[in-house]
Amino acid sequence: MTVLGIETSCDETAVGIAVDGRKLLSNVVASSMDLHAKYGGVVPEIAARSHIEAILPVLEESMDQAKCTWQDIDALAVTYGAGLGGSLLIGVLAARTLAIAKHKPLYAINHVEAHLYVNFLTDISLPGYTPRNSQPAFPILGIIVSGGHSQLVLFRNHFGYTLLGQTQDDAIGEAFDKVAKIIGLPYPGGVNVSKLADHGNPQAFKLPKAKMPHKYDFSFSGLKTAVLRLSQQQVGADFTLPSGKLPGLLSDAQKADIAASFQRVGIETIVDKAVEASKEFHPASVIIGGGVAANGELRRQLAERLPTPENGGPTPIEYPDMKLCTDNGAMIATLGCYKASLHQPEADPYSLEIAPNLSM
Ligand code: KG4
Ligand code: ZN
Repeated sequence: MTVLGIETSCDETAVGIAVDGRKLLSNVVASSMDLHAKYGGVVPEIAARSHIEAILPVLEESMDQAKCTWQDIDALAVTYGAGLGGSLLIGVLAARTLAIAKHKPLYAINHVEAHLYVNFLTDISLPGYTPRNSQPAFPILGIIVSGGHSQLVLFRNHFGYTLLGQTQDDAIGEAFDKVAKIIGLPYPGGVNVSKLADHGNPQAFKLPKAKMPHKYDFSFSGLKTAVLRLSQQQVGADFTLPSGKLPGLLSDAQKADIAASFQRVGIETIVDKAVEASKEFHPASVIIGGGVAANGELRRQLAERLPTPENGGPTPIEYPDMKLCTDNGAMIATLGCYKASLHQPEADPYSLEIAPNLSM
């Protein structure tokens, strides 16, 4: 079963091809990130226009990389939510058109679920990729940490899962991006906060962890506001200081300490709950997906605190290759393989709609 996956939910135009949900043949990603950088975040209209320009060249390059012709493709898969409406539309319309023109079955993919499915890829011969040693075993504890979602999910089998908890306000990636803005780091914020945090003291400042009524839910908006207040306090200003002036008043050392302290507490919040869920549900494996899965501090804290074989526990955790953490088509193709082989319902190529607010 060879599936071609199309992803256009945000600012990446991406097409990947996977076989049987474990082998990756191609993964091509074009990002319009540079065009958004000067605005400090993704501009939906620019993202949508960039998808229109990039979708066909990316599709062609992905087919070339996989050395596939249309005869080799058994099915198509496309992200139909969650994401930016204008961006999703381009991918969905491209996939619908191709499904009709090439006579292929079409599967509608939930972007957030797909972030976790990238962990099923074990056979990757593309240059520069580190494959996993083995596929995760059920029951699986899934940790989703992206720019739009922070969720803990327990999978009993491929399409049987329970959402244990999720953020009630900002996602963890969104909090990284907002902290980047507060201390004046360029877009994309998350990776820049993480790089700067390497030079700071993670214990420099005490920042709050939200206490939630439901133990597996998250909240990051209070932490973000605490970072803003801390930054204002560090330069001797109050909330009346225009936010644009703040980065210029903070020293490099202050910024690094703020980044490191924020990162420690934000990541600890995720890891606290992952450890608790792991103790309660005894998963056979733990998987992680979404852009923040690339964060080194998250990987360090999980390795230190999750009951994994490395520290005497029973639960193995392996991480996706860094290039498969942020948005990509490989994850869409991989989930598409399982939808097709496990006889999940096909989408109608004449009527599939986007679902910008889709949840798990
Ligand atoms: O999964 P993703 O590519 O897009 C969404 O589905 O949201 O995640 C993007 C998010 C952004 O918020 C970005 O700042 C964050 O992931 N991110 C990171 C790192 N790399 C990407 N956050 C922290 N540390 C990183 N190394
Ligand atoms: Zn994503």
